[in-house]
Amino acid sequence: MDGTELDQLTEGEARAELARLAQLLEQANRAYHTLDAPEISDAEYDALKRRNAAIEARFPALKRADSPSDRVGAPLADGFGKVAHQVRMLSLENAFDDADVTDFEDRVRKYLNHAGDLAFTAEPKIDGLSLSLRYERGVLVQAATRGDGEVGENVTENARTIADIPQRLVGAPEVLEVRGEVYMSHADFAALNARQAAAGGKTFANPRNAAAGSLRQLDPAITAARPLRFFAYSWGALSEPLATTQHDAIARLAQLGFQINPLTRLCHGPADLLDHYRRIEAQRATLGYDIDGVVYKVNDLTLQARLGFRSATPRWAIAHKFAAELAWTELLGIDIQVGRTGALSPVARLRPVTVGGVVVSNATLHNEDYIAGRDAKGNEIRGGKDIRIGDWVQVFRAGDVIPKVADVDLSRRKIDAQPYVFPKECPECGSPALREEGDAVRRCSGGLICPAQAVERLKHFVSRHAFDIEGLGAKQIEMFFRDADLPVKTPADIFTLAARDAANGLKRLKNRDGFGETSARKLFAAIEDKRRIPLDRLIFALGIRHVGEVAAQTFARHYSTWEAFEAAVTHARPGSVEWEQLLAIDGVGATLASSLVAAFQNPSERAAIDALAAQLEVQPVVWRAAADSPVAGKTVVFTGTLEKMTRAEAKARAEALGAKVAGSVSAKTDILVAGPGAGSKLKEAQKHGVTTLDEDGWLALIEGA
Ligand code: IVH
Repeated sequence: MDGTELDQLTEGEARAELARLAQLLEQANRAYHTLDAPEISDAEYDALKRRNAAIEARFPALKRADSPSDRVGAPLADGFGKVAHQVRMLSLENAFDDADVTDFEDRVRKYLNHAGDLAFTAEPKIDGLSLSLRYERGVLVQAATRGDGEVGENVTENARTIADIPQRLVGAPEVLEVRGEVYMSHADFAALNARQAAAGGKTFANPRNAAAGSLRQLDPAITAARPLRFFAYSWGALSEPLATTQHDAIARLAQLGFQINPLTRLCHGPADLLDHYRRIEAQRATLGYDIDGVVYKVNDLTLQARLGFRSATPRWAIAHKFAAELAWTELLGIDIQVGRTGALSPVARLRPVTVGGVVVSNATLHNEDYIAGRDAKGNEIRGGKDIRIGDWVQVFRAGDVIPKVADVDLSRRKIDAQPYVFPKECPECGSPALREEGDAVRRCSGGLICPAQAVERLKHFVSRHAFDIEGLGAKQIEMFFRDADLPVKTPADIFTLAARDAANGLKRLKNRDGFGETSARKLFAAIEDKRRIPLDRLIFALGIRHVGEVAAQTFARHYSTWEAFEAAVTHARPGSVEWEQLLAIDGVGATLASSLVAAFQNPSERAAIDALAAQLEVQPVVWRAAADSPVAGKTVVFTGTLEKMTRAEAKARAEALGAKVAGSVSAKTDILVAGPGAGSKLKEAQKHGVTTLDEDGWLALIEGA
């Protein structure tokens, strides 16, 4: 069925088709993730997903609660015990080009305020599956897959059959969790598939699937008959450190009997890393096993510890992926999408083309400068070539990121091709679309009168990190937004839905598409449940530009109650005390403050906020008693030069322990941490009798916390 046929689908046909696709994709997911035996190719899988998404886009109200669009991965296979990892198994941030690597080094240096030599290890990224091996007193007691990072599958008996995994270690720490990758060599993979085919069994799509399928066999005898290998590259829980550097720790694992990758090198600086990357890339085809990039890790383990982790990835490592896949195709058109903050985003509609096994028909064009062949600073990109509808363009896809249009072939440009004129008016509401000085993005100025912004704001409002209302997702928002009987145009309308429906004799919702009596009642209960909402979630949910989760938490911690927050931002005008106080909050700059204040002082936005607040009971911030932390709930100010950590690090650490970090000293300050060169803040602290510590004093206070 092609695009035209899709256009002609009736609602009934669409519903049936979505049900069929949900079932097919569920089966494909299970086959791939749980059984490690893909039944369809990646390209076929993607085509089904795209078809599903296209139908959902045309009939948003029909999107299923179990929509394949919202799924990632698959549940753990039945039959294995579960293992909670004592130390989480994380993933890695990706770098796709040289600049990403330089940025990585830069970020590490800035975070640590480190100017001297900074060494990294560089080693192949093995394309297998990760495994955590726990040794107690030198004996292998448990092997677990990564699972969701917190809980994996217990595959101990299977791991015991792998020759590269020692059963006993001599001279190891009392507790040692060794982490690494299980993989299958190309030769073993080919032989296994040949044996399987001869025996009439299933064959595997690639070595990674074969390795995963072989490790996750309920019968260890089958695993034993499959040639799996293991490279050690990291560790989890430890009763004592292995070494002081990454490089030596890995060498220690080798001494204990593990295989470590022979292409692991110690490098100094980005040039060295990139050099080694190219060396590994050149050998990729002859290694005899699959790798998909090179992993760089800060060598000094003390620095690793200081850098710590983001929510799912360490700050001290990055995976530099091998080159993205490229393909050329025709640019059929440019659509403009309007986002939550009014940003107009150009999307390339492409003649579908396969890029690295995935069919791509849309790609981002970033912004109007990008189309015109300029970067944000006005410098030429692509040698200044602009992009026109009808051009042949190069599509670039790297990993899971949104495909991009990277280049244009001028030799194939039609003579009558016209430069693309970026709209100066919002295509959704007709309001002027303006560019602020220094902003690469043109934005619709319509605010809440723009239906696209209004609906995107509502979607943000109900999203997972905001109100997270069960049963009220993007699909339902689209439906209610366009509903004539029970419209939801602003967040407050969500909280009046039940009353409005009741006033109609409860008839409206339950007869609606997708809603029966029970689901309607459930939805109302879920909404009711969120009338009590923590302050930071509410601030984030408002969807104000620049006010992300971190900023929302900062404001919530600073003001503690909705009333205090609201009063402050209502009265904050450049020059006022409230404005100065807002700017004094650590991490709050003029851009963020102006955006927040503008939202609260714009009459229609303000009306929507007030109407919402009237529906809610906002829970004030309760200080997390960050388990035994001596600084939980305390307001801390850092001043002067810190020598053992950067400001960013000091702040992140203090906040992780439940402290509130402020930018200026007042009577409310509990602790001033003053390094050399401290001036007026130190005096101010003495005036208010605030406890003052030097950096070592502070570190001693939080030590072990
Ligand atoms: S280090 C805290 N090193 O890549 C990070 N991971 O995309 C620990 N992987 O989950 C991982 N080769 O399964 C590391 N040399 C290597 C690796 C490697 C493959 C896998 C690993 C990880 C995934 C992240």
